[in-house]
Amino acid sequence: MSTRTTQDLAIHTALEAATWAPSVHNTQPWMFAVCGEEISVRADADRKLRFSDPDGRQQLISCGAALFNLTTALRCHGYEPVVRVLPDPDRPVLLATVRLGEGSTPDEHTRMLNAEIEHRRTHRAGFTDLPVPDRLVETLVQQAAAEGARMTPVRAPEAVRVVAALTEAAQNVQSQDRLLSLEVIRWARPLGSARTDGVPADAYPAEPAQTEPRFAQRDYAWRHHWGTTADQQASTSTGVVALLTTPGDSRQAWIAAGQALQRVLLHAGAYGVSAAFHTQALEMHHLREFLRQELCSGEYPQMIMRLGVTFDEKGAVRRPLFDVVESASWP
Ligand SMILES: Cc1cc2nc3c(=O)[nH]c(=O)nc-3n(C[C@H](O)[C@H](O)[C@H](O)COP(=O)(O)O)c2cc1C
Repeated sequence: MSTRTTQDLAIHTALEAATWAPSVHNTQPWMFAVCGEEISVRADADRKLRFSDPDGRQQLISCGAALFNLTTALRCHGYEPVVRVLPDPDRPVLLATVRLGEGSTPDEHTRMLNAEIEHRRTHRAGFTDLPVPDRLVETLVQQAAAEGARMTPVRAPEAVRVVAALTEAAQNVQSQDRLLSLEVIRWARPLGSARTDGVPADAYPAEPAQTEPRFAQRDYAWRHHWGTTADQQASTSTGVVALLTTPGDSRQAWIAAGQALQRVLLHAGAYGVSAAFHTQALEMHHLREFLRQELCSGEYPQMIMRLGVTFDEKGAVRRPLFDVVESASWP
C-alpha cells in the first residue's frame, strides 16, 4: 500500500472513530476538516444547546471526547499524533489540529482503548449487582489524571444522596421550564426516525429500574411511551458514583475534561463497566457551584456519572462522515 493510501486510511478510520464519541443529547456538535496530513476539529455552533449549555461547556466536553477517539485511532494506525489544542485565539471554533506525526507502534493499552470505541454506550437505568472492583476504580482515577482531570469516586452514602438530590432537584426545575424542556425534546429521536442524531428511543428503558437513592433520568420520551421494554427490574444497583473535575473552568479545561472522560469510559468498557450520566445539576449555575464547593474541593465539576455492570444492548446512531467532514477538504 502506498504511503498516501496508508495515510488516507488512517485519517478515514480516525474520523470514523471520532464520531463514536459520546455527546450531550447525541448532538454530535463537531465538524472536521482535512488538509494534507492535518485534521482540524471544530465546534459546530449550530449544534450548541442554546438554553442548557449557553457557554458551550458540554459541547467542548463532547468535542474533547471526539478528539480523544481521533488520536487513539491514529496511534493504532501507527502514527504518533501531534495535537495542538485551541491553536488560534482568533478562531474560537477551531478546537484542535491533529497532525499525523511520526510512525510509531501502538502499545497494548492504546489497542485496548481503541477496540472499545465503537462498543461503548451510555447506560440509563440501574446496574446489576456485580461490583466494580476498587482496583479498577483506582485505575480509572489514573486514566483521568493522565488527561489533566480528576475523577473522584463518591463513597460516603450521605454524599451519594446529596448528588442524587441535586440531580432530582435540577431535573424537576428543568421539567417545569418550557425552553429547557423543548430543547431536550428537540434532541429526542422518535421511534423509527431516519435521523442520525439525537437520543434514540431504544437507548433508554421505558420504565427504568430505580436505584436507591433514585438518580433522575432525563425525560427524552416526554409523554410518549418510548423506550425499550427489556426486563431490567433486577438491575437496581446505583453503581459507583463519580465526579469528573478540572482545576480551572476554561475552554481548554472543558476539552481536557472530554478527553479524560473518554479515556475513563473506554478503559472502563474494556473491563466490562459502563457509565450512566446525570449532568442536569451542572446546567444550573448555583447547583454546580454548590457541588464545586461542597463535594469537589473547589475544583470545577464537569461530569457526574455512575459506573457499573450491565448486559443490555442499547441503540446508537451517528451522522455519516460526509455530514461531519467539510466536503471541500476530503475526497
Ligand atoms: C457532556 C455530556 C453530558 C451528558 N449528559 C447526559 C445526561 O445528563 N443524561 C444522559 O442520559 N446522558 C447524558 N450524556 C450521554 C449522551 O446522551 C450520549 O453520549 C449520546 O446520546 C450518545 O450515545 P452513546 O453515549 O450511547 O454513544 C451526556 C454526554 C455528554 C458528553
